[in-house]
Amino acid sequence: MIRSVIEGVGSYLPEKVLTNAELAVKVDTTDEWIVERSGITKRYVAADNQKTSDLAIAAAERALKAAGRDGKDVDLFVVATTTPDQIFPATAARVQAALGRPGVPSFDVQAVCSGFVYGLAVVDNFIKAGQAKCAVLIGAEVFSRIVDWTDRTTCVLFGDGAGAVVLGAQEGNGSTADRGIISTHLHSDGRYHDMLYVDGGPGTTNATGYVRMKGKEVFRHAVVNLTEAVNEALAANNVTIDDVDWLVPHQANRRILDSTAQKLGLDPAKVVVTVDQHANTSAASIPLALSQAVSDGRIKKGHLVLMEAMGGGFTWGSSLVRM
Ligand code: UT7
Repeated sequence: MIRSVIEGVGSYLPEKVLTNAELAVKVDTTDEWIVERSGITKRYVAADNQKTSDLAIAAAERALKAAGRDGKDVDLFVVATTTPDQIFPATAARVQAALGRPGVPSFDVQAVCSGFVYGLAVVDNFIKAGQAKCAVLIGAEVFSRIVDWTDRTTCVLFGDGAGAVVLGAQEGNGSTADRGIISTHLHSDGRYHDMLYVDGGPGTTNATGYVRMKGKEVFRHAVVNLTEAVNEALAANNVTIDDVDWLVPHQANRRILDSTAQKLGLDPAKVVVTVDQHANTSAASIPLALSQAVSDGRIKKGHLVLMEAMGGGFTWGSSLVRM
């Protein structure tokens, strides 16, 4: 059977760093509160002239280089983002124009913090259906643009960045020993729309709006949904948590990562953590974490990696991948 194999990973973080101490000058917060409640110590913020597509293109270039591929090899560009450059055209079209061949398909996926996991499912299905042979999937966000910088309950939690993977079609034997995406599992429950949302948009206020969140409720749902999504991936593939080399979770809150690992009975040393350095970069957080762990040599070819995410909607999901 055809497998979608991750051939290369890359990421890009903007230059500007915003520390907790700097934030404490803007809003009524402290470094101690932010670290204790979220694990976050700093976040990266895009320059005024940097758009999501700029971050996405930089990350995709690095992923293509790591894969030994040229953008002209790519026959599908997908960007997972909640902060597109414009309502339309898709941010992915800018990436395709910068790196790809004219004529190949490009589109955005919107599933907020679950966007990268949703994107993996979409790209995997294109590749398995024979409609793409080499795809670039990017999670990219300038979340700082939709954060209310006067709201201490949300503004301390988010950051900007981008991560990308190049996925190529390769023949596998259908077992979990194959390299590539082994399975994807997606969910949503729109009844929880008002727990985590942006209070604007073209169809409501005709303005962009800002992130609003009932943090405690989201936290509670996140631990339950993420644990279920991981167990679903394990059961579907007849593997145990001990078979997993690395958990690469969406990075929202250090306490969510710790609680989920504990519920799963997973050794915390197997969890890739970047939330302390990047904060929550929404759709970019998983590929940013993946990129970090690949580049520092922790994640190696052949390792079994479980990714999971949960975000606004609610949306959530998981993907089991052999690198
Ligand atoms: O990526 C999508 C998924 N997102 C998430 O998963 C986020 C989930 N939620 C969370 O990460 C946590 O709920 C938060 C980090 C947002 C909040 O942590 P918490 O332990 O649930 O705190 P809380 O909201 O219950 O707030 C506790 C107190 C409140 O004061 P009172 O009412 O107890 O007097 C808040 O007003 O902390 C106060 N507070 C702050 N204090 C200092 C809230 N934000 C801040 C702040 N600095 N930045």
